Amino acid sequence: MAKTYMIGNWKMNQSLDEITEFFSSIKGKTTKEGNFWIAPQLIHIDRCLNLAQESNIKIGSQNVSNQDNGAFTGETAAVNLKEMGAHFSLIGHSERRAYNFETDEFINQKAKKLLENGMVAVICAGETLEQREAGKTLEVVLNQFKSALSEIEIKNEDQIILAYEPVWAIGTGKTASPEQAEEVHAAIRNLLKELYPALGEKLSILYGGSVKPTNVAELLAMPNINGGLVGGASIKAESFATLCNA
Ligand code: 13P
Repeated sequence: MAKTYMIGNWKMNQSLDEITEFFSSIKGKTTKEGNFWIAPQLIHIDRCLNLAQESNIKIGSQNVSNQDNGAFTGETAAVNLKEMGAHFSLIGHSERRAYNFETDEFINQKAKKLLENGMVAVICAGETLEQREAGKTLEVVLNQFKSALSEIEIKNEDQIILAYEPVWAIGTGKTASPEQAEEVHAAIRNLLKELYPALGEKLSILYGGSVKPTNVAELLAMPNINGGLVGGASIKAESFATLCNA
């Protein structure tokens, strides 16, 4: 059985005051056992690590460099995220593919850096509305994951997490129906079983795209949906706690 995760991607949001408020009000509210993670802005990771100490929330990054170190202005190395205490990094998010022109090969290099440094790679993929309407959803999503995982060996199911995030559902209020999402998740599961025969069933596949307290239960009820990667609804403690307890 794959583990369940609820991961908040805070994107470019939250002030220091709002972060302090989040961690003080979420205390004691995530009552279920589970894996509850938050990816704040890079400059807030240290603060979040401090504030999260008394909770069961793990902190990670929204991005990581594909290089070890050196003259890469503005980049952040996996080795330094790790030494700071970051547990994971998102990679392959559609916003970075679109606005920062990140390619599949680049994302694959980032995944390798994370694993080499003992961090968890949370790999995202998803189709645009145009691709879905052209009947290309499975082809696009499976190819993105295949490329991201190229030449990657894993020893256990905790090293990588996959997140299916249809681009048309991100921040739009439009969620994929549980059946639409499950169709893609089942195809991703088959790919994982092919790539990692011993671990395919145990790897977690999250759904992202307008997950909120009102639709989380029906999504999590699907056999291959092992949690959520959540933007907007992860920013307020009340709402994130509800998702974690779902
Ligand atoms: P929303 O939950 O705001 O749609 O964002 C999803 C997302 O992009 C998480 O990475």
